[in-house]
Amino acid sequence: MQTVSRLKLLREAVDDLRASGTIALVPTMGALHEGHLTLMREAKRHAAHVVASIFVNPTQFGPNEDLDAYPRQLAQDQAKLEAEGVALLWAPDVAAMYPDGFATSISVSGVSEGLCGASRPGHFDGVATVVCKLFNQVRPDVALFGEKDWQQLAVIRRMAADLDLTLPCVEKIIGVPTVREEDGLAMSSRNAYLSPGQRASAARLNQAMREAISRIEGGADVAATLGWLESELGAAGFAPVDYVTLADAASLRELSATPTAPARLLVAARMGKTRLIDNMHVDGRAA
Ligand code: PAF
Repeated sequence: MQTVSRLKLLREAVDDLRASGTIALVPTMGALHEGHLTLMREAKRHAAHVVASIFVNPTQFGPNEDLDAYPRQLAQDQAKLEAEGVALLWAPDVAAMYPDGFATSISVSGVSEGLCGASRPGHFDGVATVVCKLFNQVRPDVALFGEKDWQQLAVIRRMAADLDLTLPCVEKIIGVPTVREEDGLAMSSRNAYLSPGQRASAARLNQAMREAISRIEGGADVAATLGWLESELGAAGFAPVDYVTLADAASLRELSATPTAPARLLVAARMGKTRLIDNMHVDGRAA
């Protein structure tokens, strides 16, 4: 696997790869876990070559967020990607991604405004801008993202469609189901911040979400079920709970009644200093 950190070298390496087949891009911020490696494996099913990127993107972190603490472990990540057969790693530094004078930001309205957009102002502008740059830098045939960040995926799809990035640059944006620990906790690089006690309590997030989903799918009152879920999370030690929302799976519009189309239960809550997010499918019932 070749690692490059300059745009000129990336373009040359991508041109070489493209000469012998299609390219799948998997953007990441590193600290790779099984969830990321699943994305790499899935990427291989969609293209001849996999290009991964590792860039801890400062513009998607708020002033009081964990930019400095975010785990950086390039050598370990390189070994993992190599073992997965990734062809090329794009690992720019901040100056290579945002050279002096950089002044452009992409803001996707609507789908980026609620949920994490409400509690992390500016976050999705940072995500949309860096992902648009990554698409233009690598010009992949397909790009893969984890469904754990459901709203991020919706924002990226909206941005790609609105800016006509779908063809010829990114033909397909593929969402890959969340990979979970044995007790159901969604894998995340931020799980490493949890103390052993917090890690044990964090498992309740997914368990309580599954219980809430079976109640909603069984016809229980949506507001009462979301209220129950929020108090379960409080009892498990989550504080504050940023949001507990049932939303239409595609538009992310909030739902207050039993869904009649595929929906998503989405939660963000803090365990100690660690902000965890999760989301799961909810079946819609015939109206
Ligand atoms: O999901 C992530 O790791 C990041 O938000 C992404 C998509 C790599 C953009 O920085």
